[in-house]
Amino acid sequence: MLIGVPKEIKTHENRVALLPSGVTELLRHGHQVMVQKDAGLGSGFPDDLYKKAGATIIDSADDIWEKAEMIMKVKEPIEQEYHLMRDGQIIFTYFHFAASQELTEAVKLSGAIAIAYETVEKLDGSLPLLIPMSEVAGRMATQEGAKYLERPMGGRGVLLGGIPGVRPGNVMVLGGGIVGVNAARMAAGLGANVTIYDISLPKLRYLDEVLPANITTMFSSTANIRNDIANADLVIGAVLIPGAKAPKLVTRDMLSLMKPGAVLVDVAIDQGGCFETSKATTHEHPTYVVDNVVHYCVANMPGAVPYTSTIGLTNVTLPYAVQIANKGWVKAIRENRELEFGLNIANGKIVYRDVAEAFDLEWTPLTKFLSSLN
Ligand SMILES: NC(=O)c1ccc[n+]([C@@H]2O[C@H](COP(=O)([O-])OP(=O)(O)OC[C@H]3O[C@@H](n4cnc5c(N)ncnc54)[C@H](O)[C@@H]3O)[C@@H](O)[C@H]2O)c1
Repeated sequence: MLIGVPKEIKTHENRVALLPSGVTELLRHGHQVMVQKDAGLGSGFPDDLYKKAGATIIDSADDIWEKAEMIMKVKEPIEQEYHLMRDGQIIFTYFHFAASQELTEAVKLSGAIAIAYETVEKLDGSLPLLIPMSEVAGRMATQEGAKYLERPMGGRGVLLGGIPGVRPGNVMVLGGGIVGVNAARMAAGLGANVTIYDISLPKLRYLDEVLPANITTMFSSTANIRNDIANADLVIGAVLIPGAKAPKLVTRDMLSLMKPGAVLVDVAIDQGGCFETSKATTHEHPTYVVDNVVHYCVANMPGAVPYTSTIGLTNVTLPYAVQIANKGWVKAIRENRELEFGLNIANGKIVYRDVAEAFDLEWTPLTKFLSSLN
C-alpha cells in the first residue's frame, strides 16, 4: 500500500503521525511511504532520518493526498484539507467528529474511509490510542502546577517537595484514572504530600496498594473536597465521565476557602472542565487568576511536548496502521474488533452511532454496513 504522511497544519500542532522507525516497519511489510517535507521537524525528526529509513520526501501536501491510499495524520483534516480527501482513501487520525458537523459532512461527502484514533477500543472498554496523551497530560499537570506555584509565575511561592525543616506542598488530584495517577506519581516523586480522590472504591483500594506512601486515597465527595481544599497548594482536575460533561467538583465559592496564590490545573477542560471557574486556555496564555487562585486550563497539553507525545502516540498507532496496510481496511476491521470500533465514516455513510446522534444524522449500523460490502 502507498502510505502518505502530510505535515500537520493546524495551529501549534507539532506532532507527526509516523516516526522514521515506523517508515522502516511499513517498508519491511512491503509498503511504500511518502512523507511531506519537514513533517517531522516540529517533533525533532528531520527529513534526513525519514530518507534514511526509505521514505520519499514530497514537497506538497496535495501530491501526497492525491496519491496515497492511506493518509496517516495526527489531527482531524481542517477546512483547507477537505477538498483533498478522496473516495475510498483511508484516513487514520484523530477526528473527534462529534465536535464538528462541518468535518463530518465533509468526510461523508468525500467518500473517504475515516478510522478515528479516539474510538479504537479494547474489549475492556479502554481507549488505547488516547492513553498515551492522558499519560503526557497527567505528568505535565504536576510539572505545570509546580511551575505556576512559583512566585514570579503568579503562585504562592511554594516548592512542592519542601526542604529539610520545611513542609512539602499539598497536592489534591481529583480523579484516579490515567491522568490522575500519572499526576499523583509525579507529585509524589517531587516529595509533595498527595491525596487522590475518586468515586470508585475498587479503584481507590487498588491505588492504595500500588501507589507510594506519600499518596493518600480519599472518596470524592463535595464535603471531602470542600474540607481539604483550604490546605491545598495545587489541585489537579482529572475526572472523566465518558461521553458526558465533566462534573464541577470545585465551585466558585470554594475558591474563597483556598490560599491566595494556590494553583488549579484543569486537565479535564476538554470535557468542559471540573472547576466552575475553568475556561479553556492556550500554551501562549496558559493561565488566568480568579479570586486570587491561579487557573491553568490548556486544552491540548501534549502539544507542548511534541517529541514525547509523537513517540508515545506512534508507539500505539503503528501496529494498527500495519494491520490496515497489510490487509486493506475491510479485512483489517473484520479481523480486529478494536479497529472495528475505530471506523466512523466509510463510503459516504456514518457507521458510528454517537457521531450521527451528535448532529441528528442518519447512520448505518456497522454490521449491516459490513455485510453490504460482500
Ligand atoms: N487537557 C488535555 O490536554 C488533556 C489531555 C489528555 C486527557 N485529557 C482529559 O483528562 C480527563 C481525564 O482523562 P483520563 O484518561 O484520566 O480518564 P480516565 O477514565 O482514565 O479517568 C477518569 C477518572 O475519573 C473518575 N471520576 C469520575 N467522576 C468522578 C468524581 N466525581 N470525582 C472523582 N473522580 C471521578 C473515574 O472514576 C476515573 O477513575 C478527560 O477529560 C480527558 O479527555 C485532557
